[in-house]
Amino acid sequence: MTDDTTPNVPDDSVSLSSGAAMPLLGFGTWQIKGSEATDATATALAAGYRHLDTATVYRNEGEVGRGLAQSGVAREDVFVTTKCPPDRGGQALDTLKESLELLGTDHVDLWLIHWPGDGDDVDLWKAFVRAREEGLATDIGVSNFDASQLDRVTEATGAAPAVNQIEWSPLLYDAEVVEAHRSRGVVLEGYSALRGGTLEHPVITDIAERLGRTPAQVIVRWHLQHGIVVIPKSRNADRIRSNADVDGFSLSGDDLVALDGLGPRADR
Ligand SMILES: NC(=O)c1ccc[n+]([C@@H]2O[C@H](COP(=O)([O-])OP(=O)(O)OC[C@H]3O[C@@H](n4cnc5c(N)ncnc54)[C@H](OP(=O)(O)O)[C@@H]3O)[C@@H](O)[C@H]2O)c1
Repeated sequence: MTDDTTPNVPDDSVSLSSGAAMPLLGFGTWQIKGSEATDATATALAAGYRHLDTATVYRNEGEVGRGLAQSGVAREDVFVTTKCPPDRGGQALDTLKESLELLGTDHVDLWLIHWPGDGDDVDLWKAFVRAREEGLATDIGVSNFDASQLDRVTEATGAAPAVNQIEWSPLLYDAEVVEAHRSRGVVLEGYSALRGGTLEHPVITDIAERLGRTPAQVIVRWHLQHGIVVIPKSRNADRIRSNADVDGFSLSGDDLVALDGLGPRADR
C-alpha cells in the first residue's frame, strides 16, 4: 500500500436500535493526541473510514473534531462515537455537552458508558436515555460490560444498550459471548484487536502470508465476516490506509474456523 493508492474500504454496517447504520469498520483514536490526532483523523477520513471512536478520557475530542472538519467529509456521512466515564454522577449530560462542543457537532451517533462504575450504573444509564430522548445521542450503549451488567441497566429502564464495546480479537473469540450479545439484541463492538500478540500469532501470520495480506488486514476482515464492529487505531498514515484496505479479499470458512479456534474456550 503506497500513499497514492486508494484503499478498498468496506461499507458493511449493522443496524442499531434507532434504525441508524453503524459502519462495521471504524477508526480508533486512543493514545493519539494533539495535532497528530487531527492529522490521523483527517487521514482516516480521506482513506474512506466513515466512523470515528473517541472518549472524554482520551482528551482528544477537540482534535478529532478538527480532523473531521478539515477532512471536508460531511458530518452526516460520519458515524461518531464518544464515551463518558462512569464517575460523572449527575453531571453526565454536561459531560456530553462538553464532548459535543469539542467535537463540533450537535449530536453523537453513539454515546457509551466507558466502563462499569462502582455502583449499579442505573442512574447514569437513565441520563443516557435522556440524552437519546433529547437528540444529543442517536444511540446509546456501554463498554466493558458483562451480560449481567447489560441486563441490570436494561431491566431498570426498559432501554437496552444498542452496543457493548469490549476487548476482542481472534485470541479472545468466545461463541458464548457472541451469543450473549446476539440474544439480547446488543451489537458487539471489539477493541484492541491488534494488541496482545495477535499480529505475531503464527496462525494469523500464516493466513496473511498465504493471502498476500497483512496480519492486521486478516484480523479486520475476520471481524467483518462475523458482523462484529472493529476500530483499528494507528498514528501512521500507511497503516491507517492499509488496515482499511480489506474489501478486496475474503477469508474462507476454514480460515474462519482456524481463527475462531484461537479463542480461550475453543477446546471446551
Ligand atoms: N472502550 C474501551 O475501554 C477501549 C479500550 C481500548 C481501546 N478502545 C478503542 O479501540 C481502539 C483500538 O484499540 P487500541 O488503540 O488498543 O489499538 P489497536 O487497534 O489494537 O492497535 C494497537 C497498536 O497496533 C499498532 N498498529 C496498528 N495498525 C498496525 C499494523 N497494520 N501493523 C502493525 N501495527 C499496527 C498501532 O500502533 P501505531 O499507531 O504505531 O500504528 C497501535 O498502537 C482505540 O483506539 C479506542 O478507540 C476502547
